[in-house]
Amino acid sequence: MTSADDPADAAVAAAERCTPEFRRNPYPVYGRLRRTAPVCPLNPPHGITTYLITRYEDARAALADPRLSKDMYGALESYRRIFGDSSVALDDHMLNADPPKHTRLRRLVNSGFTPHRVESLRPRVRQIVTGLLDDCPIGEPVDLLAAFAFPLPIIVICELLGVPPEDRPKVQSWSTTVAQTGFSPESKRAQQLAEEALHAYFAELVEQKRRRPSDDLLSVLIGARDENGRLTEHELISSAFLLMFAGHKTTAYLIGNAVLHLLRHPGQLRAVREDPALIAPAVEEVLRYDGSVETGTFRYATEDVGIGGTVIPRGALVQIALSSANRDPAKFDAPDTFDLARPANNQSAHLGFGHGIHYCLGAPLARLETQLALTGLFDRFPRVALADPAREPEWLVVPFPAFRGLVELPVVLEPP
Ligand code: HEM
Repeated sequence: MTSADDPADAAVAAAERCTPEFRRNPYPVYGRLRRTAPVCPLNPPHGITTYLITRYEDARAALADPRLSKDMYGALESYRRIFGDSSVALDDHMLNADPPKHTRLRRLVNSGFTPHRVESLRPRVRQIVTGLLDDCPIGEPVDLLAAFAFPLPIIVICELLGVPPEDRPKVQSWSTTVAQTGFSPESKRAQQLAEEALHAYFAELVEQKRRRPSDDLLSVLIGARDENGRLTEHELISSAFLLMFAGHKTTAYLIGNAVLHLLRHPGQLRAVREDPALIAPAVEEVLRYDGSVETGTFRYATEDVGIGGTVIPRGALVQIALSSANRDPAKFDAPDTFDLARPANNQSAHLGFGHGIHYCLGAPLARLETQLALTGLFDRFPRVALADPAREPEWLVVPFPAFRGLVELPVVLEPP
């Protein structure tokens, strides 16, 4: 028996995870959980028994454990009831599937998401970065999240999929609503309506592209469906939605976190400005030190599963705290230090993109976007400063901390 079985400790942990202090800096609580309750039962707002895993080795093992299923909608009636039961739910995609279905869906989407296709986006991503920075006001506060970090990945993913530019605002608004994590009846109703709208939109777009295919990813996926008959219409539309959902906020928040931490570490920012080769390790270190997926890694136990000395009972939900694993001193030297120069093999061991068969399919694209965003910003503006350095920026508050990101990032940009 570990102290994870102590309900008092678990209750404290669950309550602590809702406070503004925790949102500002969750790492001390995670540190305590790693020491005292590394596999900790929680009482989340949705009411399903949930365990939180906080140590690196446990997290890595859990991410690759086939007994911890991703097929929660299929298997867990209560999950569907709580998270949504819309008849057109956009949930029939690889992130909710186990092998062999997962293998099939991932391979089909991957066929349109090759390293070559991602690399071919480089000039266009650079152009989008430049265009967004052109529109930022100079010498006065600008919210870099709203003006830069959020539009960049949505433009990229919409272009990749083949969503026409004039449709982007509505698609973005629907997918933001679908992705929100509210549990109130109003919030669930809004989610359902947005889900239906998004589904109808993609169904119509698929029809258009079927009549007039082009070289976008949606056309490639339609080809995969029609030629091989291996992707149902529902899987096709769900997969398109997954790419929007998985590729948007995650990347936007990572760009925000990266800018914040580089501004707070001027010596390291100077090093990055002087040596462009440091931009890639900088992005990896942000993924480790303060990555954008905090605990958004649900699984459910298909049988009793022993992890870190605790038995997670069959049917329980499991959340793997990537942010905590990435600060585990058993894995990373001085884990609370932001250090671009830490040994590469240690730095790249972070779990910021997950691990195992669900390892982030969009990692190359996310890296490309974040690296080009930072290079574009810091090359263009010799002086980038927090608008109010004395004020702690406001961190995202959600019913439970799936993502780690800023609400806004006001900065002042100075021209050369
Ligand atoms: C899966 C993180 C950007 C597409 C994942 C997972 C993580 C993650 C942690 C695994 C979740 C789990 O195991 O439960 C991130 C981060 C990003 C990012 C931190 C940005 C910084 C993107 C982008 C795309 C994308 C840009 C595509 C456009 C996917 C897909 C999966 C996934 C399709 C599911 C893979 C599978 O189930 O096999 N991502 N992601 N992600 N991500 Fe990303």
